Amino acid sequence: MANHTITVAPGDGIGPEITDAVVTILQEAGAALDMEHIVIGKEIYEQGGETGIPEEAWESIRRTKVLLKGPITTPQGGGYKSVNVTARKTLGLFANVRPVRSFAPFVRTPFPGMDLVIVRENEEDTYGGIEHQQTDEVVQCLKLITRPGTERVVRYAFEYARAYGRRKIHCLSKDNIMKLTDGLFHKVFNEIASEYPDIHPEHMIIDIGTAKVAADPLRFDVIVTPNLYGDIISDVAAEVSGSVGLAGSANIGVAAAMFEAVHGSAPDIAGKNIANPSGLLNGAILMLLHLGLADTAEVIQNAWLCTMEDGMHTADIQSKAYTKELLGTREFARAVVDRLGKTPHTLTPAAHSQVQVHMDQVLRAHTQESIEASAAPKSLVGVDVFLDWDEDARSPQVLGMKLEKLAGPEFSLTMISNRGTKVYPKGAPETFCTDHWRCRFTGKDLDSHKIINLLTRHAEAGLEVIKTENLYEFAGLPGYSRGQGE
Ligand code: NAI
Repeated sequence: MANHTITVAPGDGIGPEITDAVVTILQEAGAALDMEHIVIGKEIYEQGGETGIPEEAWESIRRTKVLLKGPITTPQGGGYKSVNVTARKTLGLFANVRPVRSFAPFVRTPFPGMDLVIVRENEEDTYGGIEHQQTDEVVQCLKLITRPGTERVVRYAFEYARAYGRRKIHCLSKDNIMKLTDGLFHKVFNEIASEYPDIHPEHMIIDIGTAKVAADPLRFDVIVTPNLYGDIISDVAAEVSGSVGLAGSANIGVAAAMFEAVHGSAPDIAGKNIANPSGLLNGAILMLLHLGLADTAEVIQNAWLCTMEDGMHTADIQSKAYTKELLGTREFARAVVDRLGKTPHTLTPAAHSQVQVHMDQVLRAHTQESIEASAAPKSLVGVDVFLDWDEDARSPQVLGMKLEKLAGPEFSLTMISNRGTKVYPKGAPETFCTDHWRCRFTGKDLDSHKIINLLTRHAEAGLEVIKTENLYEFAGLPGYSRGQGE
């Protein structure tokens, strides 16, 4: 059989060291792979490349459809956007699959026997990165949850559970607070769950769910959750399993897939030959399974398990009881290579051949668009007008009186809220007000012209409109949240 060609990007920080280690292990294991090497990330930004991914890199990824990627540094609180998120979103990698298990007693963990898989939605939520400063005091980030996006990731999670013989899926969301966005995620989860009677569905609110993952992870099997929660909870899970340095991650799409470690570029230890390459190696094992190279995946995983058992450890997982030799990154790779063909004695050996067949089915199944969004009749029932207003001691009463006059015959001013809490009519004197006001106007037989006229009246009154959100009803049900206290 011909070799598969993959694209390899070493990334930043410890990326090049751990990528070298993993490529060495893949080559020594005789993996049927040809590799195209690309450079993405910091170096490209520093040369002026705007997305951090040059055109020839995209060409390679589109050609091979499989990217093995080292971690990439993303500046915090400013600077360029995340290359990881750009790659995931541009290539439509909708499911981020993160298996986390413990390797006790060889890697210290309070939870021997922990074995769960987090399927994180990978393209939406606040990771749309759509942010705006709207007033001196207020910035906003748009959280987008879509029905098709949710369907794809939830269906993938159920198919994954079925393929891997897992019996239970927890959906984690915050739909008690975000009733529309997280509410949609939970609703779609319930709909799809009904198609999989062999898998037990449960829902937990994300806060208690995260606490349970930290304190009682053995109760979980598969978790499916929106992007941000999934990001946080997979680090929690990886950390309590023993080390964030161990977990691998698969980013699955229809047109391409990307494999990486869960951890980041660890600039604090870069260039010292002390990083643990296991996270990326476990990512590479997921890649081999994706490519149908289950035998090689099994050989490498068993060699790695033997390395753990033999006490050949990097510094991050070092323990008095079980570490026999403290190894650098290169030496650890050599220790894995030396154990190719061996089977672990205490840790459960890998047995992947069976799964690879099912994996194909998973990929086929999630390309089917199974649930059509129901096209509910939509009617315009109002508009939320957002104002930057910092006058008259920020008195909601004064603003309310001004706006009542602007409403005209078409609209009534239903409410003014500040940071989501109703402050007019009948607000509480204790509520703290910023310079950012949501003013809700509702009416009958509305159209865009009436809204534009309303906005014109605001402009003529010297009020600064920073944005509007139309209020719609879908099949007679409000498609907008009420104000706190409304
Ligand atoms: P990090 O995961 O890079 O490091 C956290 C801690 O874990 C550090 O003390 C580090 O030394 C240690 N660590 C991480 N990987 C290790 C390994 N393989 N072996 C031994 N120790 C390891 O997280 P941090 O510091 O928050 O992020 C650093 C950079 O990485 C940031 O720019 C961030 O945006 C980026 N990042 C990239 C990711 C990706 O490419 N997928 C994922 C997460 C973060």
